[in-house]
Amino acid sequence: MENLKHFLLALCAAAAAGFVSIIFVLRWVLYFKEGLAWDGGLAEFNWHPVLTVTGFIFLQGIAIIVYRLPWTWQCSKLMMKFIHAGLNLLAFVFAVIAMVAVFDFHNAANIPNMYSLHSWLGLTAVILYGLQLVLGVGMYLIPVTPVSWRAAFMPLHVYSGLLLFTSVIAVALMGITEKLIFGLKDPKYKDSPPEAIFVNVLGVLLVLFGGLILWIATRTSWKRPSDQILHSLHTNGGGEDNSKVTSALSQLPDGSDAYGAGDARKRSNKSDEQAN
Ligand code: HEM
Ligand code: HEM
Repeated sequence: MENLKHFLLALCAAAAAGFVSIIFVLRWVLYFKEGLAWDGGLAEFNWHPVLTVTGFIFLQGIAIIVYRLPWTWQCSKLMMKFIHAGLNLLAFVFAVIAMVAVFDFHNAANIPNMYSLHSWLGLTAVILYGLQLVLGVGMYLIPVTPVSWRAAFMPLHVYSGLLLFTSVIAVALMGITEKLIFGLKDPKYKDSPPEAIFVNVLGVLLVLFGGLILWIATRTSWKRPSDQILHSLHTNGGGEDNSKVTSALSQLPDGSDAYGAGDARKRSNKSDEQAN
């Protein structure tokens, strides 16, 4: 892979930012807030930030870059599609439970629903994410979908996936700020108590995680190479070790198009791997 070191650096930084975000959100609710429970009270609300950060943000981020991991390039595309779809499905399940927690808490406490910009954009993101999942399965997992549809839909799939991921992080930042303003009474948010500073850092970590995932997902030279290149590599070179995969990638023309090994694919006259 071109710039393997840079890739690994970005990946480790993203993983670190993601893991530390999860630790921060857990420490926030367990140490500064009321803990976790399913009792209609504030401890039930706390599942909302925990599940959105771990599921809707972290798992979705990992699902997005899973095709980019060079050590998975020897796995079949179908298996990677199942992993990508499975992680996205898990992220969706976490998001839905997080929504149930906050609605349940609001209803039990007689707090109105859906009054804030955070809630409008948040619920819209969850619904569109569900739609993205259904369309993703319909297009790329059901074998009857024509290859031409798959290829035509892919740029939209990638764009809407990245837009949703970015929006979810923005929504989380709004939610965090709201919660700090509502929750901190004495001292107030504006007095910068330790909880406020701690949770502001959580917001910074989420932005960092999002930025790194977007960086990894938009480097064309870090894309999974086409199946044709891998195939010829294995039949010519024998083993399936990563160094061969890596060296095959480094032969790709600089800035080769986003969906894989342009030249080889054009010569083979086969359909795009992205469309498979
Ligand atoms: C409420 C979505 C993350 C804090 C809500 C509601 C939705 C939502 C739909 C409305 C519930 C109702 O009206 O009964 C999301 C989504 C998130 C997210 C999709 C994905 C990242 C967060 C985070 C926090 C948070 C990380 C931090 C604590 C709040 C608060 C409320 C709320 C305080 C109640 C006030 C309000 O309705 O705006 N959220 N949320 N949210 N959320 Fe989130
Ligand atoms: C690629 C997002 C669901 C199939 C991508 C990419 C993103 C993305 C951002 C670009 C990744 C890259 O360039 O490396 C999402 C989101 C989903 C979702 C947010 C759920 C809400 C699905 C599902 C399938 C699927 C259910 C069904 C298998 C694919 C395929 C690619 C892809 C085949 C192309 C991979 C490649 O370029 O080699 N997705 N996706 N996606 N996704 Fe999804």
